[in-house]
Amino acid sequence: MRYFGKKSMIAAALMATTSMAQAADVEVLHWWTSGGEAAALNVLKEDLSGQGIGWNDMPVAGGGGESAMTVLRARVTAGDPPTAVQMLGFDILDWAEEGALADLNAVAAEEGWDAVVPAALQAFAKHDGKWISAPVNVHSTNWVWANKAILDELGIAQPGSWDEFVAALDAVKASGKTALAHGGQAWQDATIFDGIVLSVGGVDFYRKAFIDLDSEALGSDQMVEVFNRMATLRGYVDDNFSGRDWNLASAMVINGEAAFQIMGDWAKGEFLNAGKTPGEDFLCFRVPGSAGAVSFNSDQFAMFGVSDKDAMSAQGAMAASIMSPSFQSAFNVVKGSVPARTDVPNDDFDACGKQGMAELAAAAEADTLVGSIAHGHANRASVKNAIYDVVTAHFNGEYDAETAAEELVTAVEIAQ
Ligand code: BGC
Repeated sequence: MRYFGKKSMIAAALMATTSMAQAADVEVLHWWTSGGEAAALNVLKEDLSGQGIGWNDMPVAGGGGESAMTVLRARVTAGDPPTAVQMLGFDILDWAEEGALADLNAVAAEEGWDAVVPAALQAFAKHDGKWISAPVNVHSTNWVWANKAILDELGIAQPGSWDEFVAALDAVKASGKTALAHGGQAWQDATIFDGIVLSVGGVDFYRKAFIDLDSEALGSDQMVEVFNRMATLRGYVDDNFSGRDWNLASAMVINGEAAFQIMGDWAKGEFLNAGKTPGEDFLCFRVPGSAGAVSFNSDQFAMFGVSDKDAMSAQGAMAASIMSPSFQSAFNVVKGSVPARTDVPNDDFDACGKQGMAELAAAAEADTLVGSIAHGHANRASVKNAIYDVVTAHFNGEYDAETAAEELVTAVEIAQ
């Protein structure tokens, strides 16, 4: 409760800076279009509406935000940027370098963001000493979601190692059900890839190959093994996987058509939205072989420079709202992610959320927290897209594992 008081004080202070007592609407560009995402978005809409700020919705579907970023570019080029934009990692820094983002230092100082936002997030939320976005959450990608009833029925224990995972996938396949629910879209293939890279080579290999972009690591035997594992997984998806949206793949696990999905913890939002309970209806566990490491992505809201005073005030109020501990708890409980602030109590989170919070803190402490390749926290968009291309081409059978590793070296070199 103590948080609400502070938040409304800040919002009131921000509003008082406007010429009129009324705040403007915010036009928000985002890609939260699935059922679980919409439920989380409502938490934000309602929070803002409680402060008299209207919501002008600009949804552009597609995980990783590639399509949203294309629309954003067109809007900015046309001289009509949205006021607030959901953004990831390096995309935020790119826009900051172009000088397009509003300076949030005043609200950040007022609320003490410096002290409560982990360094790994600040690296993308600040530019040249200025806060340029408000982190709403921390997601991580190296998760598996499982239908508990199917596992129980087939006598499958939660797999702890890669070999156990493959044995479990085999057992489900033999039962006639789909073993791995997946949507064949480049960003989804790449999301699986995040976890598989960690499972094969751990954080050192991940960093060497995908943060340092070391050619030797990119073309190494370990990378060949990564692609071998990707090909193994390809053997467990159903015939209709191509182009399927991620939330429809989640629905297959929720409905008992499929046993597993490898996906970021936004998938949990779908399970919750369908009334499912962790531990009872579904299981969450780290991609076998990747436990201890966390590949993260943080959704942030960047505010585009506007001249209208009311619009600026609404942007400040939105940023303050997003960063309040009470909002961070309420929103992330629904979204499947964990708070971007380190001082939010875990009381309202379910078992998977509590696990996610504890593992994020432990990974930050142990230096095993790495930015997601698939979700723009490892590289600039050009390199990310080059990786997408190779991973997807291999997943669809265009390259064998050796060729994929070679192609990766070339593609990353050209993209830099
Ligand atoms: C975002 C998540 C979103 C997911 C699927 C990710 O890039 O970080 O917030 O739920 O895409 O749309």
